[in-house]
Amino acid sequence: MRLNVITSNQGKAVEFKAAFKDLGISVSHISIPYDEIQADTLEEVVRAGVAALRAEGQSNFLIDDSGLFIDSLGGFPGVYSSYVQKTLGNAGVLKLLHGTRDRGAEFRCCVGCDVDGKTVMASGSCRGTILENASGSGGFGFDPIFTVDGVKSFAEIPMALKNSVSHRGAAIANLAGELRKMLR
Ligand code: IMP
Repeated sequence: MRLNVITSNQGKAVEFKAAFKDLGISVSHISIPYDEIQADTLEEVVRAGVAALRAEGQSNFLIDDSGLFIDSLGGFPGVYSSYVQKTLGNAGVLKLLHGTRDRGAEFRCCVGCDVDGKTVMASGSCRGTILENASGSGGFGFDPIFTVDGVKSFAEIPMALKNSVSHRGAAIANLAGELRKMLR
């Protein structure tokens, strides 16, 4: 099976390629702009994106919508993560949490696939905490401020290790299960 990963985010594309390699699904990366609706859930955004790309004639593709949900901020930035990353950045998020002891947070990822005109959806999440200071130069987005083990940020660990515990890795594993059921 061959799927086109459609994203303008190079970091996501690299993670998808690595994770799918292990599953025997070959993926190509293409960057095609499509309308991302503002909605209350990642699933709604992804379903609308799949429909929009299909309407443009795309098939056999995969898209992803992800977000960082911070406990003490009532789940913010959540579906607004992209806007917050562009405007406040990691330094702004750290400022919002300055002096806050509850630093629990969750990354969530929803992936949607078109397989010969059929929609396949899957989700994954990853619990962790927001560090006091940004650290590391790997990864992308919020990686330098998010940690699972409380010590090393996602930007400081190898990508294979991030994929094995991350929201995207979990969503890909769930998606692979759905694809296997479908192709049986
Ligand atoms: P979107 O899914 O591209 O809308 O992502 C929302 C925001 O969350 C963007 O600013 C991404 O950089 C960020 N983001 C999504 N996934 C990750 C991740 O795995 N690590 C760090 N930041 C992420």
